[in-house]
Amino acid sequence: MSPITGEETVASLRAALERTERQAAARQTQLERYAADLREVFKQERARAQELRRSYMATVRALSNAVEARDAYTGKHAERVAAYGMVLAQATGLQVADSPQIEFGFLLHDVGKVAVPDAILFKSSSLTEEEYALVRRHPVIGSEILRDVDFLGEGKLVVRHHHERWDGTGYPDGLRGEQIPLAARVFAIADTLDALTTDRPYRKAIGWEEARKIICRAAGTQFDPAVVAAYDAIGDETFARLSDGVRSSSTPP
Ligand SMILES: [Fe+2]
Repeated sequence: MSPITGEETVASLRAALERTERQAAARQTQLERYAADLREVFKQERARAQELRRSYMATVRALSNAVEARDAYTGKHAERVAAYGMVLAQATGLQVADSPQIEFGFLLHDVGKVAVPDAILFKSSSLTEEEYALVRRHPVIGSEILRDVDFLGEGKLVVRHHHERWDGTGYPDGLRGEQIPLAARVFAIADTLDALTTDRPYRKAIGWEEARKIICRAAGTQFDPAVVAAYDAIGDETFARLSDGVRSSSTPP
């Protein structure tokens, strides 16, 4: 066997190096392909998640519209309250962008009223004690109706607790202060603001300024003072614009 020369050693090293380089290039191409595949999967997943979120919102709006269709008076109340509530939630520091469930809860807050007869719901004179007791059951009925709808998440807490009061005299559970979920405390102000500024069977609408005074006076009794402060820092024009926006988005009968 002839001895290995220096030239042969260099040649074999060069061949080994070329092999290694080819393998490295192949690995890099493969990795780039994996990365491209991953990007594509991620893009598709994001599109699917957005589609799912749109479907959830469409379902919730359909349900909310079905509840409101029987009430010519409060027409679009849920849409307006949801719009006011989202602005208030942002001002209060609630992470609404990450939690569409809160908006779902705002839209569906009165779904339990399906169980309240029209004769009671639209009565223009004062309610009897029994009638009032029936109306007061709507948050519990609503949360029962939605109990198994998982995607509503903490939105269901808004449905159950939107008539609780800061001082503990609300219903259905008589929660007080911070026992009341923050989203429900925010919602209570949005709900009252819309109730005061729209015509109802039993009284006429009042202006934004007057409504503000009434809400601010109820800080610490009906409402969370911190949420009232957040509300009071938002101008009337913001709420007026939101209200107009909901009206102009409504479809004619
Ligand atoms: Fe309600």
